[in-house]
Amino acid sequence: MIPRHRPWEEAADFQIGLKPIPLEAWLEGGEADPAARKDALWAADRGLVWAETAASRPGQEEVAELIAQALGPAPAPSDLPPLYAAARRVPDDLCLVEKDADGQWRLTALSLSAGSFFIAREVIGRSLAELHSPVNGFSDRFLTRVQRIFEGLRPDLVLERRNWTLLNSDALHTPTSAPIRARIGEIDPAEAGRCLNLRVERQTLRRLPRTGGALFTIRVWLAPLGSLVEQPERLSAFAQAWRSATPELRAYKRFDLYDDLVESFLSDPKPA
Ligand code: HEM
Repeated sequence: MIPRHRPWEEAADFQIGLKPIPLEAWLEGGEADPAARKDALWAADRGLVWAETAASRPGQEEVAELIAQALGPAPAPSDLPPLYAAARRVPDDLCLVEKDADGQWRLTALSLSAGSFFIAREVIGRSLAELHSPVNGFSDRFLTRVQRIFEGLRPDLVLERRNWTLLNSDALHTPTSAPIRARIGEIDPAEAGRCLNLRVERQTLRRLPRTGGALFTIRVWLAPLGSLVEQPERLSAFAQAWRSATPELRAYKRFDLYDDLVESFLSDPKPA
């Protein structure tokens, strides 16, 4: 199936791209049993997918309340940390961001079961600047604006943004890049439409009105590159996006690793 969101059709460069959406559109749902997927990761290696600071429990409780407002009360009380209990109810990853005494917005708890090359235990406590240090030019171009957005969030305002990349993996949980990139050389160019996946993150941001923090959600959608063959205008929009991406975006997303495979697919597009 063609990807539900196609952010490459909207911009060739990094962008903030946050837009208000109706409260009812906050969570997209669409996964039958997110708890089963998340619990397996939680049991296997918790620090990859979960981290919290000691002081984050009140904010976590409020996250659970927001999720309960959207989905109805939680089915049963649980001993799990409240943010993780809430995350088990939704496909999205949930990140609690709170302002510290020095005025820095920091990640204080996160359930990250579909992380795109980042790991919960490594990012806990990081500020917005630290989180984005791998993104070329972030501090010069975006940091002040993003901090202002966190300051100015009003209750009941829901903001949404999307980003995307291309990966030779159909896994939602991709904590690190090395094992995935090590397999690129094994891909038969004729199979590129099946082996390469468009990976879209649909992110939302909301204020926690009582405790003052912010909730950042990340929902990952995957679709094989070959799915675009269903709609020629979507395929040509992708080709245009791939070829016109800025050098900074290409470098950050390592498009160079996939150029030959993508061009081979575009020269003879086969369905996935
Ligand atoms: C709503 C405000 C935010 C904006 C506008 C924003 C913007 C961006 C941008 C432009 C990128 C580069 C990739 C892309 O999206 O095209 C990025 C990457 C990233 N963002 Fe954000 N971000 C925001 C909030 C957050 C929060 C709250 C977290 C905490 C989990 C976060 C974690 C990351 C990470 C881990 C990366 C990837 C860095 C890497 O490759 O290691 N962002 N963000």
